[in-house]
Amino acid sequence: MPAVAVIGAQWGDEAKGKVVHHLCRTARMCVRFNGGANAGHTVEDGRGTARLHLVPSGALHPRCQGVVGHGVALDPWELERELGELEAQRRPAPDLLLSERAHLVLPFHRLREELSGAADRIGTTRRGIGPCYEDRVARRGLRLADLADEKMVLDHLIECAQRAGGGPDPKEVWGELLRFRERFADRIGDAQRAIATALDGGSDVVFEGAQGTLLDLDLGTYPCVTSSTTTVHGIGWGTGVRVNLARVVGVMKAYTTRVGEGPFPTEELGAVGDRLREGGGEYGATTGRPRRCGWLDLVALRHAHRVNGFTELALTKLDVLSGLHEIKVAVAYTIAGQGGAAFPARVEDLARAEPVYEVLPGWGEDIAGARDEEELPSAARGLVRFVEMELGVPVTLIGTGPGEQAMIERGSK
Ligand code: IMP
Repeated sequence: MPAVAVIGAQWGDEAKGKVVHHLCRTARMCVRFNGGANAGHTVEDGRGTARLHLVPSGALHPRCQGVVGHGVALDPWELERELGELEAQRRPAPDLLLSERAHLVLPFHRLREELSGAADRIGTTRRGIGPCYEDRVARRGLRLADLADEKMVLDHLIECAQRAGGGPDPKEVWGELLRFRERFADRIGDAQRAIATALDGGSDVVFEGAQGTLLDLDLGTYPCVTSSTTTVHGIGWGTGVRVNLARVVGVMKAYTTRVGEGPFPTEELGAVGDRLREGGGEYGATTGRPRRCGWLDLVALRHAHRVNGFTELALTKLDVLSGLHEIKVAVAYTIAGQGGAAFPARVEDLARAEPVYEVLPGWGEDIAGARDEEELPSAARGLVRFVEMELGVPVTLIGTGPGEQAMIERGSK
């Protein structure tokens, strides 16, 4: 399995961290290519629960190098904090390579995000991600490689403070960045070349997407999206490598969640939503915000499949649906009286979408921790089959709980 992509098929938080960690057991390299510390990837293994934001999930395996591609908005302070947390869990220090071309998220970016009102308007994670990518596109960003030029860094920080109209003392930030440069000197380098070399040598490489397809800057629910390319196309965008992917794994929950603003046609505001939130622990891994919850949406998932060309699906958190009398799945939308509408480009249209539901039987059995398909009641198997039939993609992994072992593997290649 030389090159594998793991991509969120919904609005993020699909449990990609767990899937990536599983697929990286034998991988040589795990590559993040988009997003930044807005992501929260959770891995629960023998050492406890690791909440990762910038460290690639596969890098928790000792033989798997974690590579942070240039498409990642890299917040040095967050990275250091995260590494400190891993150390506190007595985990070995991950083997990291940070792209010298990655743009730095600075404290001024967070400040600008607040001042611009985007944090409230879009419901962002307040991590300065949008302003960092803005500076990148405006060709005034600061990249890791630039840390070599101390004067340039200081001038840049003074300009940032002026643009933000305040914030921390540029000189202090400068000192911290130089300390970061010293600490990570031997881990900053040419990630593009390293990934290409690993692939050329036939090594197993897993590309770990952050957020999900519906949060993609262009193909998601614009403008209520993040600022990076969250789909499979982000791999070239965020690493500079042309990859022949052997597998594109779409990760989807057995229901839908969303954090932040924006339309969500299958959202359940009442008891069902509460039940999914509590059962699934649906609180943001980065911000702690309660996630909005609702039924599975196959219209949105068909869009995600068309965009990414999934070769297989990982259906996570199936255990959370146990105990529900019936399970609804949206199979179509009606928009302004028009049936069979495709996933629309405009949020104004998505806000008017009325889901057409197929109602499937639920099950009462607790399936938490199941590792064999035989342990699933027929209604649970029926839901898996229904998803496969509707999307035309095989489900090769089924998540049955947060732990790394709580997973059913079905004929994975
Ligand atoms: P930003 O990425 O912080 O700019 O936030 C933009 C939108 O993407 C907001 O709705 C966030 O809640 C959402 N978002 C960003 N990262 C994640 C994630 O990892 N999971 C789920 N939603 C996210």
